[in-house]
Amino acid sequence: MTTDLAFRNGYVSQRAIYDERYEAGRYDRRSAVHVLNAERLALGHAVNRVLTSAPKTRTISLFDFGYGTGRVTNEFIGSYVDRYSELGKDLRVVAYDVSSVGLMKAKEALSSSSKKFTEDAPITWRPEDAAGYVAGSVSKSKAGVTITVVFVHGNEGQDPEVMRRLALEANDGRKYLLTTSWYSGLGHIPGERLRRDYFRQLGELTARRGEMVMSVSSTGDLEELQPEFSERLSSGITGGFPIQAPGDLVYETELGQSNFYHVFGTELNDHMRAIAGRGQHWWMEGIRYPGEEFSSRQAERDNYQRVRKANESKRDRTWDADDFREFHTVAAFRSPLAPKKRQQLEAAEAIGATHRGGCRKGVF
Ligand SMILES: C[S@@+](CC[C@H](N)C(=O)[O-])C[C@H]1O[C@@H](n2cnc3c(N)ncnc32)[C@H](O)[C@@H]1O
Repeated sequence: MTTDLAFRNGYVSQRAIYDERYEAGRYDRRSAVHVLNAERLALGHAVNRVLTSAPKTRTISLFDFGYGTGRVTNEFIGSYVDRYSELGKDLRVVAYDVSSVGLMKAKEALSSSSKKFTEDAPITWRPEDAAGYVAGSVSKSKAGVTITVVFVHGNEGQDPEVMRRLALEANDGRKYLLTTSWYSGLGHIPGERLRRDYFRQLGELTARRGEMVMSVSSTGDLEELQPEFSERLSSGITGGFPIQAPGDLVYETELGQSNFYHVFGTELNDHMRAIAGRGQHWWMEGIRYPGEEFSSRQAERDNYQRVRKANESKRDRTWDADDFREFHTVAAFRSPLAPKKRQQLEAAEAIGATHRGGCRKGVF
């Protein structure tokens, strides 16, 4: 039995942990490949489904939960004018995170001389704010479309409903056409019940005909730590960390912080089933195979080929524990489009036949 409590610190808020990580900067430089092919494709396909389900919308609204410095979302923002301006639709991104340092860094990057976003009004950051608040926004107009990025600084100590209210406030009270979360912001939420509530609130702030892409670590990640934490779960020796369910564990960050994390297995099916209403479909896709951070683009491409192959064989069925264990990262999707319609759309995308070039072949 494991009795040695070798944690470097007690349970510390994600706000504090990630403020330090983003401040130090090493976290954002962990991989030679910033955005994975599978992430780019998952987002691109979801945007095309939005354009199919809500063709008349004037603005594509996107809520990104656990945005951090905006790794995946900012690349999409950067390519938006080239890819979608022909459609004449504005883009409104709402960036939500508990780390104001991450949000501030993202804001600085968007304001840089190459990106040229400007503040709509002076942005106010309140790093210690306990309630959560909309800090402000930046925007840029080009080729007839306007892109706005609104920054929302949350506090995980608040009820998840507060997150939903802030999200709606940041979008003038409207639900979102697209809700995303990349690299397991949801994995840092302690307790199965609280995670379920976050899924529910995220489901509710997404429009009925909107899309959800929730990308999280799965049981193929941090496999070396899982036996120890299963033992801790059964023995109750948890060192003050909220180890309450299979998949809960504590890893050490690049700064030596002990950080709570949950790797998802079949309970992810339950979360998605619970938030899919009538006329909505949910499914899983692998995003990354287990292994070290990528040291080259080729390594990421090889990983992606394995992911694609594995996804093919798991399509259109409910995943079991072995399916989740095969991946380091998986994404859970919710969509109003039935599988057949989605597949037709993806086939059309592959030959560049959708949305007047909005998604050209090979762009993703
Ligand atoms: C692993 S990072 C991923 C960041 C970014 N999405 C990416 O893909 O690089 C997880 C993010 O989730 C945020 N986070 C953790 N708990 C959160 C919560 N309860 N609400 C919102 N964000 C949270 C962290 O601050 C951090 O920025």
